[in-house]
Amino acid sequence: MVKKNTCIFISGQGSNLKNLIARSRDSSFPIKISLVISNNKEAFGLNYAKKFQIPYILINTKIKNYENKVIFYLKKYKISFICLAGYMKIISNKLIKSYQGKIINIHPSLLPKFKGLNTFSRMLKNKEKKGGCTVHYVSKKLDSGNTIVQKKFTINSKDDEKILKKKTQKLEYLAFPEAIIKIFRKN
Ligand code: GRF
Repeated sequence: MVKKNTCIFISGQGSNLKNLIARSRDSSFPIKISLVISNNKEAFGLNYAKKFQIPYILINTKIKNYENKVIFYLKKYKISFICLAGYMKIISNKLIKSYQGKIINIHPSLLPKFKGLNTFSRMLKNKEKKGGCTVHYVSKKLDSGNTIVQKKFTINSKDDEKILKKKTQKLEYLAFPEAIIKIFRKN
């Protein structure tokens, strides 16, 4: 099987990156992580790139036309698939256009509910009964592309934000690889 050269975008902890690196070491997993891009030089997740000797690029999103640098490196590493894994910036229409249908994101809620930031506090405030995560295609509108995989859990009355995050991430580590397999198995 020829694995898809994939770039993972991160901004922080990188636990989904870590999980995808582990999964991608399996020869039957459809992607190879060939590049990591971070907009945050302090992102803990960069340690995983270093540890597993995956090339990584730091970008400064304050610089005008910074996405030209992104596109340059995506081409250089022959990237054909992109996963946003805790990437806290909105990516430009130019990038979405050049990778139409080839960018996916993981979001810590049951989309279309709770798009955007601070999902857990809003869920608690709203007295939601279910939480979860959604892996979806990236489109021009924030957190609105088609869903690939969604996983749910039950919220207990004592759950706080920390517990919601823990429960969500446990599901994310299943949902992200599952979505990737689903995408490439059908092609
Ligand atoms: C995840 O919960 C994801 O849903 C959200 O950002 C978080 C990233 O976590 N988009 P990590 O950096 O992969 O640990």
